[in-house]
Amino acid sequence: MNYIAKNERESMEIGKKIAAKLKGGDILCLYGDLGAGKTTLVKGLAKGLGIKKNITSPTFALMNMYSAKLHKLVHIDTYRLKNEQELVDIGIEDYLGAPDTICVIEWPEKMHKLLKNKKTLKVKIEHLKNGRKITSP
Ligand SMILES: Nc1ncnc2c1ncn2[C@@H]1O[C@H](COP(=O)(O)OP(=O)(O)O)[C@@H](O)[C@H]1O
Ligand SMILES: [Mg+2]
Repeated sequence: MNYIAKNERESMEIGKKIAAKLKGGDILCLYGDLGAGKTTLVKGLAKGLGIKKNITSPTFALMNMYSAKLHKLVHIDTYRLKNEQELVDIGIEDYLGAPDTICVIEWPEKMHKLLKNKKTLKVKIEHLKNGRKITSP
């Protein structure tokens, strides 16, 4: 996958396309700096899963959960995480890889221990002068 998104709307469209390929149990790691557009991509992804609720950044909550038609969507943002135990305390291990759940993670680097033995999908977002480059290996 290799896309250029010229604006927020195009990033959301790409999120929708990614959603179409996801299945229950998938863990999607979103790599990219602050302001790269990770949450924007999740907004489109949620739309693609049929979620009508407005997606807000879980920067303070660490994790938000939504129910979609086929699965739950768990949106994690570890930006303010102090240690991985905090995620364990809120029950994250019940969701990571659970067959009825899609997990999307902003700042996956900060929970690498919890992800160590999990199969993950990876998407990287980079700033361009006009827009963003969205790639996956
Ligand atoms: N493809 C894009 N082109 C230009 N601006 C974008 C694009 N995608 C997202 N943005 C903008 O970047 C800003 C940060 O987006 P956000 O999704 O909150 O980033 P992150 O979650 O990575 O910190 C927002 O103002 C958003 O509208
Ligand atoms: Mg964000």
